[in-house]
Amino acid sequence: MNHIQLIEGDITLASEDAIVNAANSRMLGGGGVDGAIHQAAGPQLLAECLKIPEVNGIRCPVGEARITSAGNLPSRYVIHTVGPIYSSDAAPAQHLAAAYRSSLQLAMAHGCHSVALPAISCGVYGYPLEEAANIALQTCNEPQFKHLHIVFYLFNAEITKVWRQILAHLDPP
Ligand code: APR
Repeated sequence: MNHIQLIEGDITLASEDAIVNAANSRMLGGGGVDGAIHQAAGPQLLAECLKIPEVNGIRCPVGEARITSAGNLPSRYVIHTVGPIYSSDAAPAQHLAAAYRSSLQLAMAHGCHSVALPAISCGVYGYPLEEAANIALQTCNEPQFKHLHIVFYLFNAEITKVWRQILAHLDPP
């Protein structure tokens, strides 16, 4: 799993081929990492999101991912994914794994060799850090992703410590 790297820092500074955004299903921006990515990318990112077809206001169902250009960000793409709201989702573990898996598969389908990931659902959506880290790292460690360079941008020391502990015990893919 030396293809998985952890950085304590701001994902809007990432220069990987794709940056994954922890969005909501409307894909109209928000707070947290969603707000930071839209702020750094500029208004073109929202314009790109508005082009994604919506059904009853939903552009990206939970566990799925959508890809747009990256506006002013150094990356080629922003991949918007929607993680589960921990307290109300019927299958949070499956949906969190699906959000990571859909994002990485979409990045590969667009020829990306490197992907920057945030800790999806670990903020507003309330996912407990240790459970989320296990799901995130097990999913990224699936053999299908072993040629991708995956970089987690973790926003504080607490979450970085949790991810590092889990990463240290991962078997090779
Ligand atoms: N870089 C990296 N990580 C960040 C950044 C940043 N600039 N800003 C916040 N984070 C971290 C948070 O500390 C948390 O660990 O991203 C993780 C995910 O938190 P949220 O951004 O709150 O995302 P999530 O929990 O998935 O909730 C998504 O929040 O912002 C809204 O529109 C978004 O409705 C959606 C919901």
